[in-house]
Amino acid sequence: MLVLGIETSCDETAAAIVETRPDDRKPWLLRSNVVASQVDIHCEWGGVVPELASRQHVRDICGVVERALSDANATWADVDAIAVTQGPGLVGSLLVGVSFAKSAAWALQKPLVAVHHLAGHIESIWLEHGPIPLPAIILVVSGGHTSLYLVKQEGHYELLGRTRDDAAGEAYDKVAKLLGLGYPGGPILDRLARDGNDAAINFPGTRLTSPDRNAPERDGRFDFSFSGLKTSVLRHVRQRQTALGAEQLPANEIADLAASFQFRVVDTLIDRAFAAAHWHGAKAIGIAGGVSANSRLRAEAMAKSGRSEIPVFIPSLALSTDNAAMIAAAGIRLLDAGRLAPSDLNAAASLPL
Ligand code: KG4
Ligand code: ZN
Repeated sequence: MLVLGIETSCDETAAAIVETRPDDRKPWLLRSNVVASQVDIHCEWGGVVPELASRQHVRDICGVVERALSDANATWADVDAIAVTQGPGLVGSLLVGVSFAKSAAWALQKPLVAVHHLAGHIESIWLEHGPIPLPAIILVVSGGHTSLYLVKQEGHYELLGRTRDDAAGEAYDKVAKLLGLGYPGGPILDRLARDGNDAAINFPGTRLTSPDRNAPERDGRFDFSFSGLKTSVLRHVRQRQTALGAEQLPANEIADLAASFQFRVVDTLIDRAFAAAHWHGAKAIGIAGGVSANSRLRAEAMAKSGRSEIPVFIPSLALSTDNAAMIAAAGIRLLDAGRLAPSDLNAAASLPL
């Protein structure tokens, strides 16, 4: 079976073809994965401008899907089902993908499935590695979300904790913006941090043990918070600007700041993920989402995996940041469960998982 995935939740227009195969160790084969990034358009504004994003999706969607088909050596006639991101995301952006997918499914008379963007990130781990040992703890860490899930059964996600304020990727983007480094901030700070001293500035960590007011049934043990760290960085930068009498900090100070900030973010993410794994007796940890592309997070997770003997699974870089292959993969789970989308499917900007 060939599944066409479509993803337009934010600033990437993406389409991919995933094939299902009768192979228990690798049941999903990635046939093509096309992403048209809008970074060049939005970086001028220091972040994603929703109206510009949706207009660019309209321009790109047909060409991106055609390219995904040709890269997979397939035609429209070979497509057996279509999977599209329904939400969460920017509603104008989501609508482009949802409208396109509904029209294509109707024209082809093929089944349509509506995918949650985070389910896509989670399933990118299975797409990359095949089945992983269960139960597993999955850390989804992106520009919009930082959440921990317990997966006891494939395709079923139990929320254990999430950020109470900023997502980790959002903290990266805001710190980079504050330093005048550009957008998106994650890859820029990741690169700069390599030349910095991660012990130069002792930014505070957070440990949340009080219940979340919005979800009192969770004790907060596995929640995250990054807004305090972001404020500490802001305070440090303002102090240094005043002391230097200049807007721009020297390159070595920026590198030290990037390394110290990154140390704290990565330490927090890894600490919570492994604590959750021990608490729930998990046999594996998965890390997915845009921030899983971070070089330090990948290295520290693998190092800790070696020490703790819990295997860690992270998708390749192409499947870490937003893509449509992960949407096709999550769509296959829905198809297998017979959970088809109605023909009047609508985009949902704040869809719960
Ligand atoms: O998953 P994603 O592509 O989109 C969302 O669903 O949000 O994640 C984008 C986020 C951005 O905040 C970006 O700065 C961050 O992932 N990111 C990184 C790295 N590459 C992307 N953060 C840290 N280090 C990286 N290398
Ligand atoms: Zn994402």
